Amino acid sequence: MSQKKNIPMLRLHYTDDEMRFIKDGVEEILRSGYLTMASKVRDFEGRFAKWCGVKYALGTNSGTSSLEIPLRAVGVEGKTVICPSNTYMATPIAAVHAGAKVAFTDTRVEDLQMCPDSLKLLLDTIPDVAAVMVVHIGGIISPNYWTIKKMCDDRKIPIVEDAAHAHGATIDGKMAGTLGLAGSFSFYPTKVMNTAEGGMVTTDSEEIYKLGVILREHGKADHAHNVHTEFGYNWRFSEFHALLGIQQMLKADQILSERRQIAAWYDELLKGVPGVKLLKIPSNTKSAYYKYICYLDEKIERSVVKKRMAEDYGVFLTGEVYSDPCHLQPVFARNPKTLVQVKENNYDRTSYVCRHHICPPLYPNLTREEVGYVVESMRRVLGTL
Ligand SMILES: Cc1ncc(COP(=O)(O)O)c(C=O)c1O
Repeated sequence: MSQKKNIPMLRLHYTDDEMRFIKDGVEEILRSGYLTMASKVRDFEGRFAKWCGVKYALGTNSGTSSLEIPLRAVGVEGKTVICPSNTYMATPIAAVHAGAKVAFTDTRVEDLQMCPDSLKLLLDTIPDVAAVMVVHIGGIISPNYWTIKKMCDDRKIPIVEDAAHAHGATIDGKMAGTLGLAGSFSFYPTKVMNTAEGGMVTTDSEEIYKLGVILREHGKADHAHNVHTEFGYNWRFSEFHALLGIQQMLKADQILSERRQIAAWYDELLKGVPGVKLLKIPSNTKSAYYKYICYLDEKIERSVVKKRMAEDYGVFLTGEVYSDPCHLQPVFARNPKTLVQVKENNYDRTSYVCRHHICPPLYPNLTREEVGYVVESMRRVLGTL
């Protein structure tokens, strides 16, 4: 094996031309005198809406706020919102801030997505479900999405998609963010596309869009007058963040094809490595590969593998999606009224998923040689355990 390398969890890559585009854009913004909520934001929103194929895209300061907007529009206050236990806490937190209680589904081991049988149990048991949040964990859209949608449609319950991981992911050719009543994206730096901080609501609903415009500016009915019709927030999006977003949109397809290429290298090189089991991405879906996910054999301690790969080989595995299920988060124990529990619903599969998967580094500009090095270091560490 070649010399010890340093392969970090994340390496942001901008070409010289891209750097110039951003520097010129910053200068343009500063000279324009409009630092927030102006032409760059509108430009980014327009490009994102067109790219996803929705009527409206609304830029916000974070993925979390872009989740709360559709939930507030649906009117979840005092009712129950269902989401998977295997998600980032921002998903249920948005529901709680919108005034809801949350109930969590179990997780499929095969693809880390929501279990339809667990969802059915919750839908059949809880009388006041106002929305279901489907989260495309790791960039994968559930192969059961249409089953989940039918269950919700039959009960007239809207789906809000948490597509924080899934820019450009598809199922049967349809893009993440267009599948439910509304979608929500995050542009945190680790995400498939990044604006440093930021979020986006996508929807065909004029009502949701209009409420979003009001909520993101302290509930003002219109920007020019101090007449407040909602208790809103400052969820505005700055011109600088939007500029970074425009730069990402210009190379959106390239970002996705690079991520998919790197995943294909991992698939090829990890196949047959003892102790590793690969995920099979369902054939009617295309992952955005926010993460490359695989499982370690049950007897292998993930923390030991991560530590040894970092210390001995300079390879830093990324954070899991996720290691700690939401239903066990201490904040729910302290606020039990926010959690709706159904006795027959268990989280055995979620526990398995959270405990046994790993995510080797994946970001544009990671080379095949580096992927080979990551895999070889993993093979060697696993060989000594
Ligand atoms: C699944 C999921 N939902 C929502 C969010 C919230 O996004 P943000 O951090 O931009 O608020 C994240 C962010 O990590 C996420 O992973």
